[in-house]
Amino acid sequence: MRKQIRRASSVSGGITLPGDKSISHRYAMIASIAEGATRIRNYSTGADCHSTLDCVRALGIEVEGGGTEFVIHGKGLDGWRTPARDLDAGNSGSTIRMLSGILAGQPFRSRIGGDESLSRRPMQRIMKPLAEMGAHIRARENQYPPLEIAGARLRPIEYRLPVASAQVKTCVLFAGLFAEGTTSVIEPVRSRDHTEIALREFGAEVIVERQKITVQGRPRLAARELVVPSDLSSAAFFLAAALLVPGSQLTIRDVGLNPTRSALLDFLTGMGARIAIPELESRNGELMGEIRVSYSELRGGVIEGSLTAALIDEIPVLAVLGAATQNGLTVKDAGELRIKETDRIHTVTENLRRLGVAAEETADGMVIPGRQQFRAAAFDSFGDHRVAMAFAVAALRADGESVIEGAEAASVSFPEFWDTLSRCVQ
Ligand code: S3P
Repeated sequence: MRKQIRRASSVSGGITLPGDKSISHRYAMIASIAEGATRIRNYSTGADCHSTLDCVRALGIEVEGGGTEFVIHGKGLDGWRTPARDLDAGNSGSTIRMLSGILAGQPFRSRIGGDESLSRRPMQRIMKPLAEMGAHIRARENQYPPLEIAGARLRPIEYRLPVASAQVKTCVLFAGLFAEGTTSVIEPVRSRDHTEIALREFGAEVIVERQKITVQGRPRLAARELVVPSDLSSAAFFLAAALLVPGSQLTIRDVGLNPTRSALLDFLTGMGARIAIPELESRNGELMGEIRVSYSELRGGVIEGSLTAALIDEIPVLAVLGAATQNGLTVKDAGELRIKETDRIHTVTENLRRLGVAAEETADGMVIPGRQQFRAAAFDSFGDHRVAMAFAVAALRADGESVIEGAEAASVSFPEFWDTLSRCVQ
């Protein structure tokens, strides 16, 4: 699918975005091993989170509902059944990596794979700790999906994560639910903590001491009523759009503002962005609130170290924004970007060049000088949702009409993106 996007005169109004992708996955997975019916409202409409629901159904769990509201009839820790077919995680790294933690604790064999992009993503990072816990996992070339998982009685471990990854942390903590005793994960930097919060909501015992997270095995997880906040990583595209187009003023409602996710807002305000959050509320342990953003001239900045990990999903759109700042944007320590849905260092710098923007690709980052003019162009999503949306935003400031090829990729996290964009762009 191709989308044509014209230069905008402002990005204004009030919008509501789909439910958070990270939280939706976790609620669905934990609900499927809890006892009873969990109702989840504002569940993500993204294809990734539907891959998780499809997998859960294939494991014998009844999922009712549709749209943004689902009821998951969990049957407890031992309620999954041998799937009749291979599990399909689609494009979703979260689905395959996090679900594998639960599959590893099952008394049956399963196979889980996904699309072409997922089939190139590294799985050693979960295979290693799960093997230490006693599961037997085979992978294509010993590292890529599909994974064949022979579940086992798992042993608890203390695992020091070699890379900052909330998916891997979650995988090990989920496996820890099936081990007798306590399982701990030590993170190099604090990553998003939705799993810790959600597990506690369902009744598990989770202890967090600085960067060490410990779960108690074999908990009784009880069904809940849950509401998913809207996705801050999806909001990032609209924040960037308002900050790129002079005269913009936008309100985004009910956005998830968990402090382990909201480094984006601090980074933007640090560059001079006018962002206000009138009030915060807490739902199921997750903070949420309304974000108001007005067009601002930004100074530019550097993303490195633990900030890179905290902003990892927002870097494609921040790269676009960086080219319009006064001093430009430098991204360092972002080797992980090369193994996302696409090699995002490459796909982003390639599209920046098409935009007429000078951008240097480094081994683990990008250097994007500031004060650059945007030229209308034909961009490619390269099949990556965040690349599609980042360059739709870039097109709002480009002279003339741009085209996004492969625009359908946005559906992976945000099927309503194009409609929402057309509603607030003048
Ligand atoms: C996610 C963690 C991050 C992020 C991904 C979602 C999660 O991946 O990029 O979009 O929900 O835990 P890593 O765990 O690979 O850093």
